[in-house]
Amino acid sequence: MIIAIDGPAAAGKGTLARRIAEAYGYHHLDTGLTYRATAKALLDAGLPLDDEAIAEGMAREVDLAGLDRAVLSRHEIGEAASKIAVMPTVRTALREMQQKFAQKEPGAVLDGRDIGTVVCPGAPVKLYVTASAEVRAKRRYEEIVEAGGSADYDAIFEDVKRRDERDMGRTDSPLKPAEDAHLLDTSEMSIEAAFQTAKSIIDAALSRN
Ligand code: DC
Repeated sequence: MIIAIDGPAAAGKGTLARRIAEAYGYHHLDTGLTYRATAKALLDAGLPLDDEAIAEGMAREVDLAGLDRAVLSRHEIGEAASKIAVMPTVRTALREMQQKFAQKEPGAVLDGRDIGTVVCPGAPVKLYVTASAEVRAKRRYEEIVEAGGSADYDAIFEDVKRRDERDMGRTDSPLKPAEDAHLLDTSEMSIEAAFQTAKSIIDAALSRN
């Protein structure tokens, strides 16, 4: 079983993906971390972010077992990740890794931007999780404040919109819902409600197999 979850930054797809993987005993891969790990390796080595051959080489070195969002969450890493994510050979290298992961038994949940459209177009369950830019910026803001940090809502909102433009506007594998994806707008939905909706979609797919 492969469950493909796509959507823009901070829509809640990561939380939903983890929740689903736990409930069904499936493996989970946050594919954004593969882009972030590549970007961090380039930054750490003092290498340029605009040289595709160098970035592809780094992408091929990514170790899926060592990915950790706590280490890769920094804002600069996200920005750098979104820059190298426009490079086709970087995407190919990471896609091959992600496709291998998707074959894991008894099932795999992958979340990202192009899982249902490009990485696993044949996935029996595709969810496109979204929320308004305002709601997503507010959630980011609250996350930072609750963790004891200080945040500027307007700056976060601008950042969310800029990231959306870059992810949706790129030529190779832009963020968009697959034609057969179920749309889940979480703007006014709790994570529990989103999970229950996803669960009924997954259970229906499992009973068809
Ligand atoms: O979800 P995130 O913020 O960790 O993702 C970081 C960047 O990686 C994001 O700007 C877009 C890119 N990305 C992608 O292009 N394709 C994916 N499947 C996942 C992430």
